Amino acid sequence: MNYIGSKKRLLAFIEEKINEIVDKPVSIFCDLFAGTGVVGAFFKEKGYSLIANDLQYYSYVLNKSTLGINTEPKFEKLTFIENSKNSKSPAENVCAYLTSLEGRKGFIYKNYAAGGTKSKEFKRTYFSDENAKKCDDIREKIEDWNSKNLLTDEEYFYLLACLIQSIDLYANTASLYGAYLKKLKKTALATLVIKPIKIIPSTKKHAIYNMDSNKLAKKIKADIFYLDPPYNHRQYGANYHILETIACMDSPKIRGKTGQREQSDKRSSYCLKREVKKAFSELIESLDGKYIFLSYNNEGLLSLDEVKDIMSQRGEYGVFKKKYQRFKADKDDKRVYKAKNTEEYLHYVKVRT
Ligand SMILES: C[S@@+](CC[C@H](N)C(=O)[O-])C[C@H]1O[C@@H](n2cnc3c(N)ncnc32)[C@H](O)[C@@H]1O
Repeated sequence: MNYIGSKKRLLAFIEEKINEIVDKPVSIFCDLFAGTGVVGAFFKEKGYSLIANDLQYYSYVLNKSTLGINTEPKFEKLTFIENSKNSKSPAENVCAYLTSLEGRKGFIYKNYAAGGTKSKEFKRTYFSDENAKKCDDIREKIEDWNSKNLLTDEEYFYLLACLIQSIDLYANTASLYGAYLKKLKKTALATLVIKPIKIIPSTKKHAIYNMDSNKLAKKIKADIFYLDPPYNHRQYGANYHILETIACMDSPKIRGKTGQREQSDKRSSYCLKREVKKAFSELIESLDGKYIFLSYNNEGLLSLDEVKDIMSQRGEYGVFKKKYQRFKADKDDKRVYKAKNTEEYLHYVKVRT
């Protein structure tokens, strides 16, 4: 997923610097702003026990799947999907079954595809008619199976995560859901295929949460806290609102040209100049761990000095820097940026005992 602030291409840098700083025994790694879960997945693979959290429900779904599940689900109760008669894994067979569903006119089709919105005030083209209908059918099928107790908790989240990751590849946007393209682009015209998500094997227990980090921080303990909050005013809820609606399946009230859902309860203090400093100070103060690492960049709402002052309160502080290519939507995005690169910082504090 092309996610704002994704650390996918910074994983090696983050690991190298963490290894340089950490000199006490550590086993619990906590990612409090987990997003797509790539950082957690990376450290899960390295043998850590993970705690992951994010405010957005679609992110919770992704993290429940990639981090929360240690072995491939077997889907034993879906007996009508003939799992043993071919060489594919149960997950591949179930995904193929979901892909083959015909489609139905549900919430996504009625509000975010040309066919469903043609006689409404706003004609929206977030998905092709075919993919919007398929998405509705698949989402409903997963819910139906779950309500009939045909899925374990893990299997339910696994299938939701497969749908979220797959449908995102067919969105008719320049990456974010804050706007859609008028003409269907090539990838949006292709027919939706549900791909199985790769499970990372692990023998450790992992805990996944879906709440405000500042509230969660008061209840948990970890060896390493990794923080990757939003840097600027872009609220994630607004930029990924359709993924949130698909994940929640709550047919929300929507408004305006882009069909945004009401999300005032998911408004992040980290995206607001007047709130960010207080929120960050309170978070740092409440963390119960040995090390705190923070990814931030030179264009963030908090200045380098503000971060330094706040983090230094907890112990020995330092910072690493790296030049980094800024987040770019695809080539249809006409946004003009001041600079092609940003400076990415990894701040740290060895917490005083
Ligand atoms: C920069 S992104 C994290 C990206 C992630 N490291 C990755 O590589 O995918 C910031 C994340 O913080 C989440 N977020 C924002 N405010 C939050 C809060 N108060 N509590 C928990 N999560 C929050 C957003 O939903 C978003 O997913």
